[in-house]
Amino acid sequence: MQTNFRGKHFITLQDWSREEIETLLAVSTDLKRKFAMRESTEYLKNETVFLMFFEQSTRTRNSMEAGITQLGGHGHFLDTSTMQISHGEVAKDTAIILSRYGHGIACRNCFWGIGNKYLNDLAQWSTVPIINMQCDLYHPLQAIADLMTIQEKRPQLRNLKVSVIWAYATSHKKPISVPLSQVLLFPRFGMDVTLAYPKGYELPDWVINKAEESARQNGGSLTITHDQDSAYRDADVVIPKNWGSWVSNPGKDVVDDLLTQNKIWKCTEERMALTKPDSMYMHALPADRGNEVEDSVIDGSHSIVYDEAENRLHTSKAVMALTMGGR
Ligand code: CP
Repeated sequence: MQTNFRGKHFITLQDWSREEIETLLAVSTDLKRKFAMRESTEYLKNETVFLMFFEQSTRTRNSMEAGITQLGGHGHFLDTSTMQISHGEVAKDTAIILSRYGHGIACRNCFWGIGNKYLNDLAQWSTVPIINMQCDLYHPLQAIADLMTIQEKRPQLRNLKVSVIWAYATSHKKPISVPLSQVLLFPRFGMDVTLAYPKGYELPDWVINKAEESARQNGGSLTITHDQDSAYRDADVVIPKNWGSWVSNPGKDVVDDLLTQNKIWKCTEERMALTKPDSMYMHALPADRGNEVEDSVIDGSHSIVYDEAENRLHTSKAVMALTMGGR
């Protein structure tokens, strides 16, 4: 078990070894048990994490704020439109100054082609850990909570059929960071991952190459299909969720011809009937109900979305406790 995490950035799980991820999961489970027992977990007493948001959030903001409070510290919410960033202050200056005031800097910046670069710029200058609360490429806090949730329900991860499926939505042009992080992470644990999407919603080639390499090394597989029914068929876990066509079309329009042509990509009861009888429906949330998924599925017996969302709290606390505290 790895134990030396203090000061380690959490920008992508690609920078965390499997052993480190397993420790993170073990600490998350320990914190979950302690939360249930109302045990004290003041590992970060009087420590401050700055929470910089370029975009809206419900789960990420509140799991981090509640989490740092439960760890004995303070979460300082920063709407970046009210910071001097909006007048052009650079990442270097923000990172150096916030490092002098507190113990961790967390940031959500999903602007395509900018977000991940911004987080890495912060990391270059920060003397405290940088925690990625979602960027244009990665959402490691979501991916680790998803892995924890799947492992709680199915401890034998190897050769589980897990399908990451594109779904129609009109709410906003969603980042690719959730499916990208899942497709990179799950094959590292030997899962049989199916990635299903209509043509035009590709993930970057380097992601597919890396995921295939991980699958080869860990006894899993990666299958890519444009037939959603084959992704549902005999699946243990389905994760139907929208993402934008950022790779093929970086424009910001939410609704375009490509999207409109693919309305049939919806998680329905009929499609869930193709999965294994005890299959699980997951979604990072917020879901575009009626478009991505029928209410009867997300509110039905296969759905574990609220357990998944709850685990955002326990995993976020583990990330902060290890990287801001720890050894
Ligand atoms: N899943 C997720 O990151 O939710 P929020 O956008 O509400 O933080």
